[in-house]
Amino acid sequence: MTLDDVFNRLWIDYTNQNPSARRIYELFTNSGEKVLNDHIAFRTYDDPRINIDVLSRIFIEHGYSAKGKYTFEDKHLFARHFEHKTDKNAPRVFISELKTKDFSDFLQKTVKDILDQVPLVKFKSDELIFSGNIWGIPDYETYIKLRNESEYAAWVYVYGFRANHFTVNINALKNLNTIEKVNEFLKSNGFLLNSSGGEIKGTKAELLQQSSTLADHVNVEFADRITSIPACYYEFAQRYPDTDGSLYSGFIAKSADKIFESTDYYKK
Ligand code: NI
Repeated sequence: MTLDDVFNRLWIDYTNQNPSARRIYELFTNSGEKVLNDHIAFRTYDDPRINIDVLSRIFIEHGYSAKGKYTFEDKHLFARHFEHKTDKNAPRVFISELKTKDFSDFLQKTVKDILDQVPLVKFKSDELIFSGNIWGIPDYETYIKLRNESEYAAWVYVYGFRANHFTVNINALKNLNTIEKVNEFLKSNGFLLNSSGGEIKGTKAELLQQSSTLADHVNVEFADRITSIPACYYEFAQRYPDTDGSLYSGFIAKSADKIFESTDYYKK
């Protein structure tokens, strides 16, 4: 499996599940833009069987190395980002993990129980990051209880291992080359943006600005019902030069904190 194969598989699964991401990608390409990815993101729990170290393994094997570390206090997350050592066009990979010990016994036991059902060989497989939910059909009541503690925990419980979002590299676009232009383009085509903390997260002074769509709602099969819940979102990132003249390559925890809420909009 080449690195391109890895990203293509993730992209196909992601766009099959989230048709609006495919429509946005097509809008960009139909208007003459070539879309490169700034980063793709995964979510997981901090259990040593499936934590950041485990999910990042396939990328390390394909030439990536670990870069920044990030802590999200409010959401009880830790994250790392990875960059390819030589291929500057390869997307960054951003992986976060939920600090399960910060949560209730119920949440911790649920995570342990679902993982205990999975044969160890699956955690060691190169297929892991493509494998989605490997613990079987989720239970709706459990989902709601998890969601009351952590929307992130509930998302991972239902969707498991897959790209949570792809992120368009705005710097690589020809005409839609600012985040303001991208946001207007999306809104004029009828897409909803995550406006938690403002449509644009981050400032030029922080060297990274990001925006995102609200996640598509998709039908999910639970043990006793099929119901529609948020899935994945599409993100857009513009980077600015650091003092040494090269584009800033890290992430801003304060901004990403609000981006996580792109899958959390039942309350409206
Ligand atoms: Ni992101």
